[in-house]
Amino acid sequence: MIGRLNHVAIAVPDLASASALYRNALGAEVSEPRELPEHGVTVVFIALPNTKIELLEPLGDASPIAAFLAKNLSGGMHHICYEVDDIIAARDHLLASGSRMLGDGAPKIGAHGKPVLFLHPKDFNGVLVELEQK
Ligand code: CO
Repeated sequence: MIGRLNHVAIAVPDLASASALYRNALGAEVSEPRELPEHGVTVVFIALPNTKIELLEPLGDASPIAAFLAKNLSGGMHHICYEVDDIIAARDHLLASGSRMLGDGAPKIGAHGKPVLFLHPKDFNGVLVELEQK
């Protein structure tokens, strides 16, 4: 059911210094920051030959990554995103398999303008999994 690894997201306390690290130390192509108020993050995209890395910095008071950064002061891997052909079919299959979704289970439009869902990390070996429709 799952397809390509779309991205790995890393929560960071300081987007400017994290961007500089990836640009200068790792020689990566790093985008300009983009604010996504509806998701409570500012994001930078890093294009790799086979996938993407997203650096996430909290935006606003109710950022969903604030608690994560309070526990992981220097940042950390926040989630991984797999592509699926049909997000509703994937959700229904996962619900029937006993997996839980975050929120109400209705897909939201993600950072790439496509429908996304998040699966409960307790059901996936401690990893927050995002599904994005291709
Ligand atoms: Co993501």
